[in-house]
Amino acid sequence: MNILVTGGAGFIGANFVYYELENHPEDRIVCIDALTYAGNLATLDAAIGNPNFRFVKADIADREAVEKLFSEEAFDIVVNFAAESHVDRSIENPELFLKTNIMGTQVLMDACRKFNVPRYHQVSTDEVYGDLPLDRPELFFTEETPIHTSSPYSASKASADLLVLAYYRTFGLPVTISRCSNNYGPYHFPEKLIPLMISRALADQSLPVYGKGDNVRDWLYVEDHCSAIDLIIRNGRVGEVYNIGGHNERTNLEVVKTILSELNKPETLITYVTDRLGHDRRYAIDPTKISGELGWSPKTYFDDGIKKTIRWYLDNRSWWENILSGDYQAYYEKMYGNR
Ligand code: NAD
Ligand code: TYD
Repeated sequence: MNILVTGGAGFIGANFVYYELENHPEDRIVCIDALTYAGNLATLDAAIGNPNFRFVKADIADREAVEKLFSEEAFDIVVNFAAESHVDRSIENPELFLKTNIMGTQVLMDACRKFNVPRYHQVSTDEVYGDLPLDRPELFFTEETPIHTSSPYSASKASADLLVLAYYRTFGLPVTISRCSNNYGPYHFPEKLIPLMISRALADQSLPVYGKGDNVRDWLYVEDHCSAIDLIIRNGRVGEVYNIGGHNERTNLEVVKTILSELNKPETLITYVTDRLGHDRRYAIDPTKISGELGWSPKTYFDDGIKKTIRWYLDNRSWWENILSGDYQAYYEKMYGNR
């Protein structure tokens, strides 16, 4: 199969590229990525020499570039990871989120229609369901939970989901959607909670915890997200939404304290800062549908996954230090400028 992975130079997309190349060596992966601040070609270093892999630098909202690529390649599946993904940035500047997350999705689906691609998969988020109260631990997001968004980021992702389902109903485009909880693991961009705290703790810098640190996230090791998407694109039912998450809930404070303890750093580094506007309190996924239908279950518990992740950041300092220093932005020019 010929699979288009959008946003493959980002955190989850890159992990998915590696997952597919390793688990399905018979398949070919084409990656399209605009290389925004969050995209880093160095992340794909180990894939770039692989004959089953092709990288194309382009914006998913650029209809001409997308159609050119679709006319060159006969795709069997399109998996759309490309997005503006940081809630805090969406609060600062919502517009780009609408362009990439909504219009980009539309451009990709139009190309799928025009070139008769037999499957479009939208990588979405549990944030489309809004949040759950902290004092109702028995509540979880199911696929039937109403869409009820809080941030410009989640509103843009929810809009895209609605558009995907509209293309299914109106045009019969064969789509699937997955809505996953918070991911962590290798190649996570160092402005998101876990890598931010690891990099700052290693430098003995203060760790900014929003509000009281009692917000809860349902953490999923990124490889488990990749295995779930892999099952959905191969065995999932067209027109369906699948929630992905594995009952690994932690408060932000618990996460930060675990990182400090693993790194032997003092809790005095924790600094409570002004809360995020509209800050969602708790996310928690009910994965009954994907476990029952597709036999998926997560393999990594948080206590093991966080140790593996910290180890990865210790062993791959140059990857995130380059990003923090801004050097990675020159990488594409250096690697691809003359090609
Ligand atoms: P990320 O920010 O690390 O990576 C996004 C990638 O998309 C980058 O490589 C960036 O260059 C690329 N990109 C951005 N705009 C683009 C455009 N217009 N055209 C082409 N490429 C573009 O994000 P991530 O954490 O890897 O998230 C990937 C997807 O998974 C997103 O759709 C996100 O909504 C979803 N998701 C993320 C999480 C999470 O915890 N990180 C959880 C659930 C769902
Ligand atoms: P984040 O990694 O931005 O993911 P999301 O907002 O999509 O869940 O943040 C995870 C949680 O950590 C969220 O509740 C906000 C909180 N947070 C902090 O307390 N301090 C920080 O510096 C960051 C980036 C996040």
